[in-house]
Amino acid sequence: MSARELWPSQKISPEDLLNMAREAADRAYVPYSHFHVGAAMLFENDEVIQSCNVENASYGVTICAERAGVVIMVSQGRRDPLAIAVVGSHESVDTYFTEACPPCGACRQVLMEFGKDMLVVMASKTGARVYELKKLLPHSFTLDPDIE
Ligand code: THU
Repeated sequence: MSARELWPSQKISPEDLLNMAREAADRAYVPYSHFHVGAAMLFENDEVIQSCNVENASYGVTICAERAGVVIMVSQGRRDPLAIAVVGSHESVDTYFTEACPPCGACRQVLMEFGKDMLVVMASKTGARVYELKKLLPHSFTLDPDIE
């Protein structure tokens, strides 16, 4: 079964979720890299949490859009994201819907903590593509490994 066939919502399409991520990317605080990233996490009942990257003069403490989303989610008492769409683009070039913005390794690990069956939506030249998080991060770290 393809990842798209596993899509959990009748109402919000992968393309819709990418659009919501784009909306969030416009709010990114990126005075250093000028690279806007937006994420939109989908939950049961078609609820969505949007988030963006927040940079800092101390570059290393920058918060990625996906991890910002996880912080909002947990702070709101949620634990069960079904999917996340991620878009990114330089402020001078609008490539949000044509170029993928693959979540960084650290964000994949953080997302994995909250849903091994989560789907990840990225843009591509041919439209929204849906991936399975567990395939984007095989052998993620766990304190309880289940190695056959
Ligand atoms: N960034 C994200 O928001 N998510 C990722 O998965 C990778 C990178 C941000 C961090 C920084 O503000 C900018 O993109 C350039 O690295």
